[in-house]
Amino acid sequence: MNKHATLYLYELAWMLPSVALPVGMLAALAVTAFGAHIGLPGEAGRVDPAAVLQTAPFNQPGVVEVSPGRYEAHLVAGIWFFSPPEMRVPEGSEVTFIATSKDIIHGFLLRAANINAMLLPGQVTRVTARFDRAGTYPFLCHEYCGIAHHTMWGKVIVEPRS
Ligand code: CUA
Repeated sequence: MNKHATLYLYELAWMLPSVALPVGMLAALAVTAFGAHIGLPGEAGRVDPAAVLQTAPFNQPGVVEVSPGRYEAHLVAGIWFFSPPEMRVPEGSEVTFIATSKDIIHGFLLRAANINAMLLPGQVTRVTARFDRAGTYPFLCHEYCGIAHHTMWGKVIVEPRS
Protein backbone atom coordinates (compact mmCIF):
# COMPACT_ATOMS: atom_id res chain seq x y z
CA MET A 1 0.00 0.00 0.00
CA ASN A 2 1.42 3.42 -0.82
CA LYS A 3 1.99 6.06 1.82
CA HIS A 4 -0.95 8.23 0.77
CA ALA A 5 -3.43 5.40 1.05
CA THR A 6 -2.17 4.57 4.55
CA LEU A 7 -2.55 8.18 5.67
CA TYR A 8 -6.02 8.25 4.23
CA LEU A 9 -6.98 5.15 6.21
CA TYR A 10 -5.60 6.67 9.43
CA GLU A 11 -7.62 9.82 8.86
CA LEU A 12 -10.71 7.78 8.18
CA ALA A 13 -10.15 5.79 11.37
CA TRP A 14 -10.27 9.04 13.35
CA MET A 15 -13.02 10.75 11.40
CA LEU A 16 -15.59 7.98 11.53
CA PRO A 17 -15.67 7.68 15.36
CA SER A 18 -15.68 11.46 15.70
CA VAL A 19 -18.84 11.56 13.63
CA ALA A 20 -20.36 8.42 15.13
CA LEU A 21 -19.91 9.59 18.75
CA PRO A 22 -21.96 12.81 18.55
CA VAL A 23 -24.57 11.08 16.40
CA GLY A 24 -24.82 8.32 18.99
CA MET A 25 -25.10 10.85 21.82
CA LEU A 26 -27.83 12.78 20.00
CA ALA A 27 -29.72 9.53 19.44
CA ALA A 28 -29.39 8.66 23.15
CA LEU A 29 -30.67 12.15 24.04
CA ALA A 30 -33.68 11.74 21.73
CA VAL A 31 -34.50 8.30 23.15
CA THR A 32 -34.32 9.47 26.79
CA ALA A 33 -36.26 12.69 26.13
CA PHE A 34 -39.03 11.34 23.89
CA GLY A 35 -38.98 7.63 24.65
CA ALA A 36 -38.25 7.52 28.38
CA HIS A 37 -39.70 11.00 29.06
CA ILE A 38 -36.68 12.08 31.07
CA GLY A 39 -36.62 15.84 30.97
CA LEU A 40 -35.08 18.84 32.63
CA PRO A 41 -37.06 20.48 35.42
CA GLY A 42 -38.90 23.38 33.87
CA GLU A 43 -38.12 26.96 34.74
CA ALA A 44 -41.50 28.27 35.69
CA GLY A 45 -41.24 31.97 36.21
CA ARG A 46 -39.42 34.43 38.35
CA VAL A 47 -39.85 35.86 41.79
CA ASP A 48 -38.16 38.72 43.61
CA PRO A 49 -35.45 36.90 45.60
CA ALA A 50 -35.61 39.50 48.35
CA ALA A 51 -39.35 39.00 48.83
CA VAL A 52 -39.80 35.24 48.42
CA LEU A 53 -41.50 34.79 51.78
CA GLN A 54 -43.99 37.57 50.96
CA THR A 55 -44.77 36.31 47.45
CA ALA A 56 -47.47 33.75 46.63
CA PRO A 57 -47.33 30.79 46.66
CA PHE A 58 -44.14 30.86 48.73
CA ASN A 59 -45.72 32.93 51.50
CA GLN A 60 -47.66 29.78 52.40
CA PRO A 61 -45.32 26.83 51.90
CA GLY A 62 -47.06 23.47 51.96
CA VAL A 63 -49.11 21.02 49.97
CA VAL A 64 -52.44 21.92 48.38
CA GLU A 65 -54.78 19.64 46.45
CA VAL A 66 -55.50 21.20 43.06
CA SER A 67 -57.78 18.43 41.75
CA PRO A 68 -58.56 14.86 42.86
CA GLY A 69 -55.25 13.05 43.20
CA ARG A 70 -53.19 16.03 42.05
CA TYR A 71 -51.25 18.21 44.43
CA GLU A 72 -48.99 21.22 44.36
CA ALA A 73 -46.17 21.41 46.87
CA HIS A 74 -44.92 24.93 47.44
CA LEU A 75 -41.39 24.64 48.72
CA VAL A 76 -38.90 27.27 49.87
CA ALA A 77 -35.22 26.57 50.36
CA GLY A 78 -32.95 28.74 52.48
CA ILE A 79 -29.86 28.46 54.63
CA TRP A 80 -30.32 25.82 56.00
CA PHE A 81 -33.83 24.59 55.77
CA PHE A 82 -36.63 23.46 53.54
CA SER A 83 -40.02 24.91 54.25
CA PRO A 84 -42.03 22.82 54.78
CA PRO A 85 -39.59 20.15 55.95
CA GLU A 86 -42.27 17.50 55.75
CA MET A 87 -45.04 16.98 53.19
CA ARG A 88 -47.86 14.44 53.25
CA VAL A 89 -49.77 13.14 50.26
CA PRO A 90 -51.89 10.02 49.78
CA GLU A 91 -50.65 7.06 47.79
CA GLY A 92 -51.17 7.39 44.03
CA SER A 93 -50.78 11.17 44.01
CA GLU A 94 -49.24 13.27 41.34
CA VAL A 95 -47.30 16.09 42.96
CA THR A 96 -45.97 19.17 41.23
CA PHE A 97 -43.21 20.74 43.28
CA ILE A 98 -43.01 24.49 42.82
CA ALA A 99 -39.88 25.63 44.52
CA THR A 100 -37.39 28.42 44.84
CA SER A 101 -34.60 29.66 47.06
CA LYS A 102 -34.79 32.71 49.29
CA ASP A 103 -31.04 33.31 49.47
CA ILE A 104 -28.39 31.33 47.63
CA ILE A 105 -28.27 28.35 45.29
CA HIS A 106 -29.64 25.16 46.78
CA GLY A 107 -30.50 21.80 45.33
CA PHE A 108 -33.53 19.54 45.47
CA LEU A 109 -32.74 15.86 45.17
CA LEU A 110 -35.59 13.42 45.70
CA ARG A 111 -34.09 10.21 44.52
CA ALA A 112 -37.19 8.03 44.94
CA ALA A 113 -39.05 10.16 42.41
CA ASN A 114 -36.06 10.72 40.13
CA ILE A 115 -36.00 14.46 40.87
CA ASN A 116 -32.72 16.34 40.62
CA ALA A 117 -33.25 20.07 40.38
CA MET A 118 -31.49 23.28 41.28
CA LEU A 119 -33.19 25.98 43.29
CA LEU A 120 -31.97 29.40 42.27
CA PRO A 121 -32.83 32.63 44.06
CA GLY A 122 -35.24 34.58 41.89
CA GLN A 123 -36.17 31.63 39.74
CA VAL A 124 -39.05 29.21 40.15
CA THR A 125 -38.40 25.53 39.57
CA ARG A 126 -41.32 23.26 38.69
CA VAL A 127 -41.11 19.50 38.56
CA THR A 128 -43.80 16.83 38.69
CA ALA A 129 -43.62 13.32 40.10
CA ARG A 130 -45.97 10.46 40.89
CA PHE A 131 -45.98 8.68 44.22
CA ASP A 132 -47.61 5.29 43.71
CA ARG A 133 -46.25 3.54 46.76
CA ALA A 134 -46.69 4.46 50.38
CA GLY A 135 -43.54 5.24 52.28
CA THR A 136 -41.26 7.97 53.50
CA TYR A 137 -39.11 9.57 50.86
CA PRO A 138 -36.33 11.88 51.99
CA PHE A 139 -35.14 14.78 49.87
CA LEU A 140 -32.06 16.85 50.38
CA CYS A 141 -30.03 19.79 49.22
CA HIS A 142 -27.26 18.60 46.95
CA GLU A 143 -25.65 21.93 46.10
CA TYR A 144 -23.01 22.84 48.65
CA CYS A 145 -24.43 25.90 50.40
CA GLY A 146 -22.30 26.47 53.46
CA ILE A 147 -21.43 25.19 56.88
CA ALA A 148 -24.74 23.43 57.60
CA HIS A 149 -25.43 22.18 54.07
CA HIS A 150 -25.51 18.60 55.33
CA THR A 151 -28.43 19.40 57.65
CA MET A 152 -30.65 20.58 54.82
CA TRP A 153 -33.16 17.87 54.12
CA GLY A 154 -36.82 17.00 54.39
CA LYS A 155 -39.22 14.24 53.55
CA VAL A 156 -42.31 13.40 51.57
CA ILE A 157 -44.59 11.02 53.44
CA VAL A 158 -46.85 9.05 51.15
CA GLU A 159 -49.73 7.71 53.19
CA PRO A 160 -51.52 4.48 52.32
CA ARG A 161 -55.11 4.84 51.14
CA SER A 162 -57.43 3.18 53.58
CU1 CUA B 1 -28.70 24.07 50.67
CU2 CUA B 1 -26.82 22.68 50.44
